[in-house]
Amino acid sequence: MVYLEWLHSDYPARQTCQSCHMPEVHEEVAITSVLGVPRTGFRQHTFVGANFLILRLLNQHRGDLSVTAMPAELTAEADRTVDFLRSQAARVTIRSIETSNDRLNAEVFVENLTGHKLPTAFPSRRAWLHFQVLDRNGRTVFESGKLNPDGSIEGNDNDADPLRFEPHYSEITSRDEVQIYEPILGDESGHVTTGLADGVGYLKDNRLLPSGFQKKTAEKDIAVVGKAADDPNFTAGGDLLRYSVSLDGAQGQFQVKVELWYQPIGFRWAHNLIPYESMETRRFVGYYESMPSATAEVLARAEATH
Ligand code: HEC
Repeated sequence: MVYLEWLHSDYPARQTCQSCHMPEVHEEVAITSVLGVPRTGFRQHTFVGANFLILRLLNQHRGDLSVTAMPAELTAEADRTVDFLRSQAARVTIRSIETSNDRLNAEVFVENLTGHKLPTAFPSRRAWLHFQVLDRNGRTVFESGKLNPDGSIEGNDNDADPLRFEPHYSEITSRDEVQIYEPILGDESGHVTTGLADGVGYLKDNRLLPSGFQKKTAEKDIAVVGKAADDPNFTAGGDLLRYSVSLDGAQGQFQVKVELWYQPIGFRWAHNLIPYESMETRRFVGYYESMPSATAEVLARAEATH
């Protein structure tokens, strides 16, 4: 669906897939080593994407998986992927902060800088907001979306229970609410599933839209599904989200920190493989559990005091 998402955005008039995924070579290159004539206008075949996790996993379990690529090559490719994600995927801005009646209200804008949905492509991808309020002593007064040591997200219903999931929020008021930009697949009987062969549609799709993407006219395959469809602040290019949280008598100055996190393979996608009695799934889950902190990266962050 990546191409259709791009086609429905305003990128076709501005930027091709290659302009982002294949870095331009700023010098002349000979395309053959024999009798090659130097020419301009080339791009590197790096095809940087988003899956730093599989690169790290292949490297860490290289013996087990008979990986022949050199450790330094896989590390370099994983680093290139993380650099790409950090520099070109998203921007987070704190639009406003105010306190009244022992509450702190903040508006956070998350902007998608890619030419398609963020995250796009394979549905195990997810991005989410970690929002924190600290008091004058640096003590955490409120927190939503913390990454747990096992790779799950604190407060995410889907990580706690495979049959439930977090809805899209336009406002977050408690710790057990987390804004997660993700596709949630549903099977024929409407249950949440991560089985690609069982999925017949989306129960939720609030992945961030690219610039120019009109959700009203998007065809079914690339439509926004769930509460985001009717959220007037979830629009082309990003999501404006409000946090309204209790300060429990804490004293300012307050520090507000927001991070947009990303996982190529979310906790639920890996953990749903546990019941299967096969060597491949057992191995994969074992790898995932052996390196949970390597499953996630921060795409963008913002901080402000009030
Ligand atoms: C403006 C820059 C930009 C354009 C244009 C763009 N992409 Fe991307 N693309 C990104 C970034 C940044 C990511 C990583 C974040 C994400 O997954 O959305 C990405 C991710 C992807 C992924 C997911 C990789 C993964 O491992 O999950 C695929 C596939 C992809 N792009 C293909 C395409 C195709 C095909 C096009 C054209 C139809 C395209 N991109 C246009 C910037 C761009």
